[in-house]
Amino acid sequence: MSDILEHRDGGVMTLTFNRLDRKNSITAAMYAQLADALEGAAQEGAVRAVVIQGHETVFCAGNDIADFLQQPPSDQNAPVFRFLRALATFEKPLLAAVAGPAVGIGTTLLLHCDLVYAGDNAAFSMPFVNLGLCPEAASSLLLPAMFGHHRAAEALLLGEPFFAEAAMEVGLVNRVLPPTEVNAYAQAQARKLSTKPLSSLMATKRLMKRHQQTQVLSVMAEEGEAFGRMLREPAAKEAFGAFMEKRKPDFSGL
Ligand code: COA
Repeated sequence: MSDILEHRDGGVMTLTFNRLDRKNSITAAMYAQLADALEGAAQEGAVRAVVIQGHETVFCAGNDIADFLQQPPSDQNAPVFRFLRALATFEKPLLAAVAGPAVGIGTTLLLHCDLVYAGDNAAFSMPFVNLGLCPEAASSLLLPAMFGHHRAAEALLLGEPFFAEAAMEVGLVNRVLPPTEVNAYAQAQARKLSTKPLSSLMATKRLMKRHQQTQVLSVMAEEGEAFGRMLREPAAKEAFGAFMEKRKPDFSGL
């Protein structure tokens, strides 16, 4: 079965991370499939809302580290960057249902969603620094704007998890629910949206986002360049090596 499930129900397209044995971490092939699905949904008149969801125990463990090491993103056309651009420029309502861990891009993708529902077991983290890397998905811009500098700095510099209630307090999450109810609730909200006039939904979203769209795309490209460079540097090599060898990284001297 595919690692990303695509499902249509009326005007709602649902993309489900389906790689539980690897905690729904995302490979380049999965990024390509996600990018294709979003690009298709943007063009297809019958799709009126998209939901991104995981499993009630885990949303997404971020990049698949082994896959990432084998085929690091080489340029702006790499699947991960195609996905991020498709996400940031998606003009129809985009919803996410998050339960369990949401690591790295599992959290930063939420900054581009319109409605986010979380299980009370949700744990959000952006451990880029702990991996010798830097933020992606325009999170260096969007996170301070949403959280305020100090809370964004805590999340990005320490990289420690924060939980559903804290995420709701800073505005990352709309509502906290029991984990078994999150996906169904997001579906119900998406169905509700799919009965509304798409032209009004899209105009409203465009008006809300248009002031920062150009900046988001330029920050994303800038972060992507730094991320790609840092991936080849000693701190990331040590962090990724330590992950694969299941040991603590040693950043002394780096
Ligand atoms: N890339 C590759 N493999 C991953 C992965 C990732 N991002 N996340 C988890 N896995 C693998 C684990 O290595 C483990 O493999 P194993 O069964 O061969 O030992 C398996 O998935 C299960 O993960 P495990 O860590 O045992 O599950 P957990 O429930 O204890 O913890 C997480 C879940 C998501 C908190 C934890 O797996 C984690 O922190 N993963 C790394 C997240 C990360 O740093 N992502 C990169 C962001 S850029």
